[in-house]
Amino acid sequence: MKVMKIAKSKLPTVDFNNLGFGKYYGDHMLVKIYENGVWKESEIVPFGDMLLSPANITLHYSQSIFEGMKAFRGEDGVVRLFRPEKNITRLNFSAERMCIPQLDEKETLKELMELISLDKAFTPSHLGSSLYIRPFIFAADPALGVKVSDTYRFMIITTPVDAYYGRKLQTLSIYATKEFTRAALGGTGHVKAAANYSQSLYAAKKALDKGYKQIMWLDGQEHKYVDEVGVMNIMFVINDTLITPTLDQGTILAGITRESVLFLAREMGWRVEERRIAFQEILDASKNGSLQECFGTGTAATIAPVGRIGYDDGKDIILNNNEVGPYAKKIYEQLLGIQYGKIEDKYGWTVEIK
Ligand code: COI
Repeated sequence: MKVMKIAKSKLPTVDFNNLGFGKYYGDHMLVKIYENGVWKESEIVPFGDMLLSPANITLHYSQSIFEGMKAFRGEDGVVRLFRPEKNITRLNFSAERMCIPQLDEKETLKELMELISLDKAFTPSHLGSSLYIRPFIFAADPALGVKVSDTYRFMIITTPVDAYYGRKLQTLSIYATKEFTRAALGGTGHVKAAANYSQSLYAAKKALDKGYKQIMWLDGQEHKYVDEVGVMNIMFVINDTLITPTLDQGTILAGITRESVLFLAREMGWRVEERRIAFQEILDASKNGSLQECFGTGTAATIAPVGRIGYDDGKDIILNNNEVGPYAKKIYEQLLGIQYGKIEDKYGWTVEIK
């Protein structure tokens, strides 16, 4: 792979005490072009703007997918990627659904690690922060007909970040909507298509206007069952059982943090259920006192405890006095413990960056 290094690093311009999410970028990016039916050799080049035709097909019709993964710097100074092969497999899964050509997963992982190794100094060290890695593929044809593109660009960029909802583990509020739909049966809710996110903005804005941080999506057919929340999967603790919506409707993204949390919960001996959850069940559990906690899980969000769920104008469910509950705290410590190398990684989830 060709590597063209930046002349002067931007590292000194990064304010590591105030990272936010997507404010700063690593020095380099990876670019791989697909044309004439093949992926060409990747290149690592300095991070920068790119030239696109105004007729670029992605700008008009969103034939585009992405991933989100993280590298963590432990107290030992070691930088570790978390389950990167899972993200690359999911990228190919999304690619299939969006008519985008498949990448070679082994080669992609190797190239991704080379990029991270080059910009590893951008990985922050405080708990909750990380180097967020954004692989993405977009259709590159300059063409206005609605069709499958013949050319694509695969890219990876990196950004040092705090957790999506802030550095500190704190509760957030969500609004359960019956008015809007994120995903339909047979749609693209289960893949990481860029279009899923743009079409969610209107409902998310409405929730924000009502004073909630995120939207909670209910199923698209009946608006009865919980699907997911904003940029994360969602879990509830009812009667000391961790419950999360099942993936089998094909409307929910199969989160890697979700899968890791369910695995760790089972390892710790928690009762775990993956099944459909009617929103009415949440209301009933809140009324009878068996609803203990709710938290989101996601790469960007990590573990995001929910303190308040709105559902009709003026009505709210308050969870655990709007404070971080013991289940969310425990799973946060376990997951981040492994990610930051504080707890032994018995499962081979972390990959050290040299
Ligand atoms: C992630 O958790 O990596 C995501 O993709 C969320 C992102 C849209 C901020």
